[in-house]
Amino acid sequence: YSEVSTEPFRPQFHFTPKENWMNDPNGMVYYDGEYHLFYQYYPDGTEWGPMHWGHAISTDLVDWEEQDIKLYPDELGYIFSGSAVADHHNTAGFKTGEETPLVAIFTHHHEEKGQVQSLAYSNDKGRTWEKYEGNPVLPNPGIADFRDPKVSWHEQSEKWIMALAVKDVIHLYSSKDLKDWSLESEFGKGIGAKGGVWECPDLFELAGDDGQSKWVMFISINPGAPNGGSGTQYFTGDFDGITFTPEHQEEKWLDWGTDNYAGVTWANIPDKDGRTLFIGWMSNWDYANITPTQKWRSAMTIARELKLVRDGGENIVASLPVGEFYEMLEEVTSAESFDKDQTIALAGKKGFVISLKDISLGENESFKLVNESGENITIQFDNANQKVYLDRSQSGKVDFHEAFASVQEMPLRKKLYKINMDIVVDASSVEVFINEGMYVMTAQVFNTNPFTRFEVHLSENREGDSGMVRIYEAPAIR
Ligand code: FRU
Repeated sequence: YSEVSTEPFRPQFHFTPKENWMNDPNGMVYYDGEYHLFYQYYPDGTEWGPMHWGHAISTDLVDWEEQDIKLYPDELGYIFSGSAVADHHNTAGFKTGEETPLVAIFTHHHEEKGQVQSLAYSNDKGRTWEKYEGNPVLPNPGIADFRDPKVSWHEQSEKWIMALAVKDVIHLYSSKDLKDWSLESEFGKGIGAKGGVWECPDLFELAGDDGQSKWVMFISINPGAPNGGSGTQYFTGDFDGITFTPEHQEEKWLDWGTDNYAGVTWANIPDKDGRTLFIGWMSNWDYANITPTQKWRSAMTIARELKLVRDGGENIVASLPVGEFYEMLEEVTSAESFDKDQTIALAGKKGFVISLKDISLGENESFKLVNESGENITIQFDNANQKVYLDRSQSGKVDFHEAFASVQEMPLRKKLYKINMDIVVDASSVEVFINEGMYVMTAQVFNTNPFTRFEVHLSENREGDSGMVRIYEAPAIR
């Protein structure tokens, strides 16, 4: 056990920097067997400050090795969010040796000069980085909010496409060389959740298990999320290399919990396994700066695989923890026959997963995690009103912000009389995945000691077979 693992609230298997402030995940790129994760980082304090890009590397998307800081602020400003790509065809001409250059495309933020887009590159598998001397590559057209470039290679038109958040719309640009960008189209006038600034867009093609695929646009918004503060909305549709055409007008939400923001997908995926991979920042701008951790602030979500799923005629983006995480779990207890209320004792570990399979529900059922101090989290299925509630109002430290204790709501597209549910618990979070990730809620939770009981409260009027609960111990990496 390292010293870090005994700190209060320190996650055991979610990425946190050893010290100081972190927000958005940035520049996620897969190259040569390594997953890179960069992130908004302030090395001189535990609150947001002049932004740098911190860096971590993993070969399995769960065990992250923190690296040194890769991008420091300069005369063009702070280093805000952005993306990275492996430039396999050396389109930008940055290649100097044997390795494929990794190119980062990020926002330079300057109080007076405004926000512009810039490049940096690495010829040694992301270990050292050089900023491009021609920065910025995309100057500011006179708009204050002009940021968070997400770049990907568009095979059909043989061009790079950049999605950029511009106030509360998205601009799509194209380029042959990552340096010279042309505006192709705009998305978002009169559509989607408004009332906050749009940030961290992502445009990518997503396949379902049946082989069909759709283009997906992610847009983070702050404030304006359904449970307050920040959240990530999305649209499914088509993209012809120029214009993104949504197939629906009303926004959908990737995650209904309060704490999954600014997440985007990994570049140069499909990786060896052909997956679309995602990670988000597990916090909310409403209270991100005042959560009760000490040496560091904020964790990332567990890395997730995204899939397109058809549900009652609608295309839904489902998300589940990556397979590598499931492979690390060790089963410790199981229980069958859920005909009535039951309590399962937990080992009192900080990190574990509760996996429920084929549980039949009636009109109102609830599941509860409780610790020795009576602190608890309740997940309630209200089929009568087609809602799921996540209640962290008595979960431990909640009084650092007035909104933190409020009950989070998620609407159901239909009543759910049979569910599978994985509850991923770490020292300061719960991530709830219902029906193979078709409904997701992620929330930070600051319980002051580990949960020791899992209570199942089931009503009488349920139909069908009872299911199975398995408890797994999760890896203690930190
Ligand atoms: C999103 C965000 C981005 C910005 C970064 C600054 O959380 O506001 O729009 O680039 O954080 O740290």
